[in-house]
Amino acid sequence: MILTSRQIHQHITTKHNALQTTDNSNEFTLTLPVKKVYRVLVDADGKATSVIRENPKQLFGAKCKTSIANFLSKSNNAKALKVLQKMDIDCGQIINECNKENAVTTIQAAFRGFVARRSLTPENDFGFKKMTNENHGRTYYFDSTKENPHLRTPDHPIKYGSAGAFKTVTHADSSFVQLSNPSISLEAAKNENKLADELSQFSSVCHSRYVEDKTVLARNGGSEIADQRRKYNRKFPVESFRLACQDLAAMHNLDIYMRDIKPENMVIKDGVARHIDLDFVTTPNGGTYPFEQVCGTPYMVTRGLIKERESGDKERIKKALKSGDQFAMLQTMMYATGGSKLSYQVRRHDGIGKVGVAITGAHRDWARDNILPQHKNHVLKFLANPTASPLPAPLHLLIKWDN
Ligand SMILES: Nc1ncnc2c1ncn2[C@@H]1O[C@H](COP(=O)(O)OP(=O)(O)O)[C@@H](O)[C@H]1O
Ligand SMILES: [Mg+2]
Repeated sequence: MILTSRQIHQHITTKHNALQTTDNSNEFTLTLPVKKVYRVLVDADGKATSVIRENPKQLFGAKCKTSIANFLSKSNNAKALKVLQKMDIDCGQIINECNKENAVTTIQAAFRGFVARRSLTPENDFGFKKMTNENHGRTYYFDSTKENPHLRTPDHPIKYGSAGAFKTVTHADSSFVQLSNPSISLEAAKNENKLADELSQFSSVCHSRYVEDKTVLARNGGSEIADQRRKYNRKFPVESFRLACQDLAAMHNLDIYMRDIKPENMVIKDGVARHIDLDFVTTPNGGTYPFEQVCGTPYMVTRGLIKERESGDKERIKKALKSGDQFAMLQTMMYATGGSKLSYQVRRHDGIGKVGVAITGAHRDWARDNILPQHKNHVLKFLANPTASPLPAPLHLLIKWDN
C-alpha cells in the first residue's frame, strides 16, 4: 500500500491515535496505516531526536537520526530516494510518492502536533493534563510541571483487587494500577500528592498520584510481599531490599520517616522491593498525620519505641522513628527472605506488649546468613530491644548484600 503525503498527514491529524505515548516518557510510538510502527525518542526538552523503525527492524537500519531527516528534506528527490532505498525500500517508495515528503519529517510533524495539543489541554484539579485515546480506551495524565513521568489508566478492570484499610485496586495491567479510596477528601488527596512529590527522589517508592477525586494511578510495582508469602510461601532474596535500605538511610538524613513499613505495604517486581503506602509518612513539611502521633502496625513496633514516641521530646521522637523504620524494615526482610519458622515468628511479635523480639535460633541463623559478621550481635541486640541498643550504622551498611 502506498500513501500520498496528504493521506499520511490526514491520518495523523484526524486520527491522533496514531501517535501514542509509551510507558516511558522519553518515547512515543507512531503507527502508520501502512502497518509500520516507529518509535520517536525525545530529549529532556521534549524535542524529537531520533526515529526508530520497529517493524520489520532490519529494513530501516538501527536508527534514523534527525540529521538524516534534515538531509532528506533538503536533498533532491533522486538523492533522497537513493539514500532511503539503501535503508528501506518501502519507505523510499513512500518518499517518492510523497514527493520529497519523508516518514521522519512526517513523524516529527505529528509529534509537534501532539505536543501542541497537550499544551492546549487544561489542567484538572490535581494539576494534570488529561488526554484520552478513544480507540484504545486509555487516558493519560501528564504532570503540567513536567517534573514527573506521566500516568495512564490500566487496561483491565479487576474484580476482587488487593485492598488495604483504605484503598482497593480496581484496574491493572503490567505497567499501571488504579486504586479507589472512597473515603478521602479532595484536600487530603492533594496533600498526599504533595507528599509523593517530596518522595519522588526515592526510586524505592512507587510512583503514584491522585489524578481524580478518590482515584489513584500508580506504576505497577508488582506483587504485594505479604500476599506472596502468605498465599504461595514465596521467599525473596535479601538483595531485593538493597535499594529500599539505601533509600531509608537517605530519607532519615532528611528527617523523613515512613512509619508503616510492613510486608503489606511493599511490592516486588523484577527483584526490587518498593514502598507503596505513604499514608503515615512524616517529613519536615508535614504529612497526613502529625509528627507526634503514634501510628503504625503492632507487629512492627515495640513497647519501648511507642514510649519514646509519646515522650513529647522532638529529638527522642526522631530517634525512635528512625529505629522504628529500621526495626520494621528488618522484620519485613526477615519475613520476606527467611524460612517459614522465622516468618511465623515475625508475625507473632507482640509490639505493644514487648520490649523487643524474643530471639530464637531462626533469628540467629538469619543474622548469620545475612548480616556482616562484625555486626551480627549488634543487630540481634537491636531486635531484642531497639531503644536500648540502637543500630551502630544505617541498615544498608550492616547487610551482606553479596550473599
Ligand atoms: N503501585 C502499586 N503496585 C502494585 N500494587 C499496589 C500498588 N499500590 C497499591 N497496590 C496494592 O493495593 C493494596 C492497597 O494499597 P495501599 O496503598 O497499601 O492502601 P491502604 O492505604 O488501603 O493500605 C496494596 O496492599 C497492594 O496490594
Ligand atoms: Mg497499605
